[in-house]
Amino acid sequence: MDKTFVMIKPDGVQRNLIGRIISRFEDKGLRVAAIKFLRLDEEMARKHYEEHVEKPFFPGLLEYITSGPVVAMVLEGRAVVEEVRKMMGATNPKEALPGTIRGDFGIEIGRNIIHGADSPESAQREIGIYFGEEDLVPYQKAEECWLYE
Ligand code: RTP
Ligand code: MG
Repeated sequence: MDKTFVMIKPDGVQRNLIGRIISRFEDKGLRVAAIKFLRLDEEMARKHYEEHVEKPFFPGLLEYITSGPVVAMVLEGRAVVEEVRKMMGATNPKEALPGTIRGDFGIEIGRNIIHGADSPESAQREIGIYFGEEDLVPYQKAEECWLYE
């Protein structure tokens, strides 16, 4: 099954959205394969957002992402990287459509609630930052024959 990496950012945790966000993924039919509650330090944040370290917004992003605990998880499902990105909505909540997580819960780009890997390659890299092989629990759900043809 395809895998992606998702993180509920510090604002999502502080705003009591953990349950509602995970429920959306469960409702969609995606499967949690690993989950962890943690606070990023600067080193982890730099590794996580390595493609952005030279960008002008990075200092603000670093402060934001290390400002409180986050929920990191691995989700599984068919084409899950793309599905999760659709469910998250545009990077800037101002442009994110209603019905998406950022569109429904966010207002500004620097407080956009959730992170999701942008490609299967990024997903694999990001999963490796937060989880070891032994953290990923392989299993099936009984409903899967009703989700997939
Ligand atoms: P993410 O990596 O967090 O899932 O977000 P994304 O792919 O939709 O957007 P990306 O371009 O990767 O940006 C990473 C995060 O940096 C913050 N950002 N701030 N102030 C700005 O112009 C700006 N641009 C990006 C956001 O928190 C964004 O999610
Ligand atoms: Mg990104």
